[in-house]
Amino acid sequence: MDIDLADLNFWRKSLKERNEAFAQLRQLEHPVFFPEKKVPFLRSGKGFYALVRHADVIEASRNAKIFSSEPAVTNPEPPGWVKQVFGESMVNMDDPRHARLRRIVTRSFSPKMLAGLQSDIETACARIVDDAVKEGPGDFVTQVAARLPIHVICDMLDIPQELREQVHKHVDISTAYTGVRPSLARSVQMAGQNMLALLALQRMVIKLGHERIAEPKGDLVSLLVNANPDGEKLTDKELGSFFALLLVAGNETARNTMAHGIRLLTENPAQRELLMSDFDAHINNTIEEMVRYVSPIMQFRRTVTEDYSLRGLELKKGDKVVLFYGSANRDESVFPDPDTFDITRETKPHVGFGGPGPHFCLGANLARQEMRTMFRELLTRLPGIRSVGEPELLLSNFDNSVRSQSYTF
Ligand code: HEM
Repeated sequence: MDIDLADLNFWRKSLKERNEAFAQLRQLEHPVFFPEKKVPFLRSGKGFYALVRHADVIEASRNAKIFSSEPAVTNPEPPGWVKQVFGESMVNMDDPRHARLRRIVTRSFSPKMLAGLQSDIETACARIVDDAVKEGPGDFVTQVAARLPIHVICDMLDIPQELREQVHKHVDISTAYTGVRPSLARSVQMAGQNMLALLALQRMVIKLGHERIAEPKGDLVSLLVNANPDGEKLTDKELGSFFALLLVAGNETARNTMAHGIRLLTENPAQRELLMSDFDAHINNTIEEMVRYVSPIMQFRRTVTEDYSLRGLELKKGDKVVLFYGSANRDESVFPDPDTFDITRETKPHVGFGGPGPHFCLGANLARQEMRTMFRELLTRLPGIRSVGEPELLLSNFDNSVRSQSYTF
């Protein structure tokens, strides 16, 4: 079998070829082991088992005691200095440390907080579409999709207007590092720029935190740095790590789903017509189907804490498994005819926002709300909107990232 998920060249193949490879892997009796390659400046281990079936991804996500998120969920692991400098992110923690942080931050994503954000999101979408109309047809990513998620995060944190451009710049630099590295020299340069960008963002939010201990407002930073009813609050370092996580987790993912989404609606005119025949009835499932079909985060890793038998495969303590969400989302035993974009299908069990378990995406409802509002604005105000040609994809084994997508209206 000529498939090597640990080889970065695999991720250079077209989406169609990769999907075919995953379909082959899903047919095998056991999850396959892939020895790891060395990547400059990143620790590599011996390799990982690829969980490609839906049931296996669900089992590992549910069973967080055996399938640990520590020391990290990315693969390969980030270098040690990253943790030294930035503290740790909740996504890389197990309970009880994870549960404590999740308790503190969950309040800021409550239905009430999200309902309070709706009018801000509507205003932002209307302005983005106004600007897009003025600018004329061009690149959907930079002119539309990239503008909303970062704006919403800045609103939630009440980042002062004068600092927002700086946030945009630093986020662009820090997320550029997620792609497959073009060369060793470029890789070193990008790692350095990435570290400086993240440090600058952290310093900025910690300063805001200090200001909002002195003078709390109704924003997310104030909620996090002042004690909740249980007397818990974030430390400076925890606030910095959480902010970095929000920017990385909440920005690219929604952006990429929208960019792939406009193409899916263009390539599937009957589905679009159905959506527009009763927007309110169909939009929620359309968004879920986009997330299933696109799988914006392609994989996260877990480390096995004790010997465990998974579908007859004897895993040993310390083994790494990688949860391939994109493959689970096309598992034909759960999603019939999985390569068809169908807004009427039963999408409930998709794992685009992660499997059921303690790390299920904290921002899933916010992402849904952003994308619903944006597509409503776009499709009702610009009924002729459509993608043009193929997207330019970022070479990545982690996120299904669209660098650019031409569009017109
Ligand atoms: C389409 C959009 C999105 C997708 C596909 C997505 C996907 C995911 C996935 C797969 C995980 C699971 C990580 C794991 O199991 O280890 C996750 C976690 C997380 N997501 Fe999202 N995400 C999206 C949007 C957002 C947004 C808008 C935010 C916040 C602004 C956000 C914040 C987070 C956080 C904080 C976590 C970590 C949760 C934890 O460890 O407890 N995400 N996301």
